[in-house]
Amino acid sequence: MSGFDFSKRDSFGSRLGVVAAAAGSAVGLGNIWRFPYVLGENGGGAFLIIYLVIMFAIGIPVMMSELVIGRRSQRNPVGAFRVLAPGKPWYLVGMMGIISAFMILAFYTAVAGWTLEYIYQTLTGGFSGKSSVELTAMFDSFRSESLRPALWFSVFMIATSAIVLGGVRKGIEKSTKIMMPLLFILLLVMCIKSLTLPGAGKGMEFLFKPDFSKITGTTVLMALGQVFFSLSIGMGTIITYGSYIQKDNNLAGTSVQVSLIDTAVAVLAGIAIFPAVFAFGISPSSGEALTFIVLPGIFQQMPGGMIFAFMFFLLLALAALTSTISVLEVIVAYFSEQLRLTRRKAIILATLSMFVLGITASLSLGLTSRIKLFGLNTFDLFNTTTANILLPLGGLLIVIFLGWFFPGRDVKDELSNGGSLKARYYSLYRFIIRFVAPIAITIVFLNGIGLLKI
Ligand code: PHE
Repeated sequence: MSGFDFSKRDSFGSRLGVVAAAAGSAVGLGNIWRFPYVLGENGGGAFLIIYLVIMFAIGIPVMMSELVIGRRSQRNPVGAFRVLAPGKPWYLVGMMGIISAFMILAFYTAVAGWTLEYIYQTLTGGFSGKSSVELTAMFDSFRSESLRPALWFSVFMIATSAIVLGGVRKGIEKSTKIMMPLLFILLLVMCIKSLTLPGAGKGMEFLFKPDFSKITGTTVLMALGQVFFSLSIGMGTIITYGSYIQKDNNLAGTSVQVSLIDTAVAVLAGIAIFPAVFAFGISPSSGEALTFIVLPGIFQQMPGGMIFAFMFFLLLALAALTSTISVLEVIVAYFSEQLRLTRRKAIILATLSMFVLGITASLSLGLTSRIKLFGLNTFDLFNTTTANILLPLGGLLIVIFLGWFFPGRDVKDELSNGGSLKARYYSLYRFIIRFVAPIAITIVFLNGIGLLKI
């Protein structure tokens, strides 16, 4: 038989493997590149508090819901809704996820490419002795080049495809288990260095002392978007990984563990970056460049800094890789299961289409800078629309589906592994997915885009 054989679907091997793979998807550039710059642009400490509240009140329940949908249906995001709600339009939520996957993979792999450029710069001494101003100029000129960003994007895209070709268990699970703990340790070392820089205290104050006067509707929407982006929720990555999870896994436990790991890495990244931001006199709202200016600055202050820099950017690239493979896996699972392609063909098709989108995004300050929609270049368009619109909307529809249109006893059955776990949190969870999350997401969304004023 040609095409995809459902009886041979891959699955994760061990409990640790599940957490490692889901955390591998969650932890990445979202934590170390996106979180600090979005927090920096949105007022610091108050943003952090809102982020944490949303993480626990909405992020974790949405992640649980995706795991339920995935494991119950044993399908990709589109197939999942087709199985759970046959003949109904809910599968469109899955389609929206596939579109988000394309957009995220395009700009995210472009940023992952920047980490490769920075590894290269570390090896060739490109940072040495450079001031913050020079580092900023270096970043800006790299981003507006016409070839290199696309070249690094391509290298990264090929690496991603190669791993996904290796299959879920072999490719994804193994690579994450080793890389994640290493990244964590290195991040700790950098926090210590950053905290001992002169003037570091101001950075800690910025990060941890809330000033609620800086909070607007947009800020809250940015926090919501960042939670969704960081947890890889709202587009079906976790549905897809959930479909590979074995029946005895405690889905609520997995969601909590993954979210805690993800939040810890984001906060550590903040502690590594903001003290140095203030010590170097850089503006916390330097945007997308922030991490790429501040980190090389910190490394310069460390004995053997270039070795650390090399290790760090390497691990960051690897953390990004465990995220890009999870996004590509969504597309590949969809192509192979719904369009009945072999995995190999699905991967080739997905990779080729990604080249078009991704190269456009990676050159969005150079060759393709003229391509604009709503005044945004492709990179910004993909970055903003996915995190702030598509993912929250996807999450909203996912909780509405499970909370209102899918039998509650089936949800409970899945969360309690057929009754073998107590699932004492169930009524709270159900209340959240029926009322709290839908209402909160709607209000934050309408308020953030200015349609509602509170
Ligand atoms: N969560 C990943 C990160 O923070 C990015 C991602 C988003 C991955 C959406 C998959 C889906 O780096």
